[in-house]
Amino acid sequence: MTKLKTALLASTLIASSAMASNAILAQKTNKDVTKLTPTSKAWSYAKATTIHLYPQTTITFNDKKALEANANNHAKEARVKAIYNGKNVAFLLEWPDGTKSVQKGYRSDVYGDGFAVQLPVNYKDPSKLPYIGMGSDGRPVVIHLQKAVQPIYEPNGKGNVGMQQNILSKNKFGKDIKAYNKEVAKLAVTDYQRSFVSEGFRSMTEIKDGSEKFSADMAYGNHAWKGEVVRPLKDSYLKLQGGFPVAFATWDGARMQRDGLKYLSGWVPVKLVGQRGGDKLVESLTAPVKGDVENGKNLVQQNGCTGCHYIPGLSQPSTMAPGLANIGGYATAAYLRESIVDPSAVVVPGYNRNQHPNTPWYNVVDGKRVSAMPPYPLDDKSLDDMVAYLKTLKAEVK
Ligand code: HEC
Repeated sequence: MTKLKTALLASTLIASSAMASNAILAQKTNKDVTKLTPTSKAWSYAKATTIHLYPQTTITFNDKKALEANANNHAKEARVKAIYNGKNVAFLLEWPDGTKSVQKGYRSDVYGDGFAVQLPVNYKDPSKLPYIGMGSDGRPVVIHLQKAVQPIYEPNGKGNVGMQQNILSKNKFGKDIKAYNKEVAKLAVTDYQRSFVSEGFRSMTEIKDGSEKFSADMAYGNHAWKGEVVRPLKDSYLKLQGGFPVAFATWDGARMQRDGLKYLSGWVPVKLVGQRGGDKLVESLTAPVKGDVENGKNLVQQNGCTGCHYIPGLSQPSTMAPGLANIGGYATAAYLRESIVDPSAVVVPGYNRNQHPNTPWYNVVDGKRVSAMPPYPLDDKSLDDMVAYLKTLKAEVK
């Protein structure tokens, strides 16, 4: 422990001067970070970075009750820490949640709290990062997901809880019972922990071949969750070095959140303190956005953006296009700019086909998704102003 502490303090000193204020500074250690738990003392020596999680309001859900429970969500303030060694990187996300919700295996109407850590497969060009929700065509992400679930016993491994063994049906005593209990505990499903590669909502593919080694854990206390993910710096999907982007999502079970109904951060840069590289990425993701917000707002109205998009105060909720109420919270400036000049570069996946079968968000032409939004080849100044305005669209932090 003392060794880890000294190592972390030393790297904090190196980091403090040069780095942008809101990059996550991953401190280096020579200890085995796979041994960390969300409540390990070692985390108290790592530097915390404040991030904000915004209600994702891209798609309108079919579930009325869930919509009502999330109608006036504020943004949440969360804290992130990171530690790495030669092999692995560990993230700790702390986020407020007033109620501990745990999913019960046998009830489909009870939703568990959960969180996800998302990493882009390619991040060389900071202006071409994947769609923040779940990656997009040609821009995949790796997602590590952990949900709070109640342990259930599934001895046959098929999720058939009704078939579970009952100790009362066994004529066992003393030592036998202990041995029996141990056997049953080994078969228990105590965790919902998954990794995915994804290029959009309907393309989430679970990585099941064991090639994606990661571990995750959650601990609840003081009206907040601590969630930890530990994964390799390098494997067949990802190569994390110097600096790279990460994004976080949380689900609040008490608000019936699941799937796309969640809280979402934007891409946040991580700097592996002591490693070279990644400065361009950190700079690009932390630079303040320049532009005339008032003029941007006028341009958005003049160009008819509000004819399709919901922008609070300017237009009514609509299924024609993604809701932009929180777009400034989770989209980068580069993404917003690209969305305006080249809407088909990243096509927002997974629109609600049930709600608007006649107004699709995209059409498939020659196997490629083409956005229903027309491109707007505007001049640089207009684009700067519009992007500056769109970046102001986000819920208040509470
Ligand atoms: C004809 C309807 C229409 C108009 C007009 C329109 N859009 Fe869009 N927009 C869409 C659709 C549909 C999508 C989703 C498909 C895609 O990603 O291109 C979209 C996507 C977007 C996105 C990405 C949203 C996300 O959640 O990632 C942004 C940002 C955006 N539009 C901004 C604008 C701005 C700014 C204007 C005005 C200059 C505008 N749109 C005009 C239909 C429209």
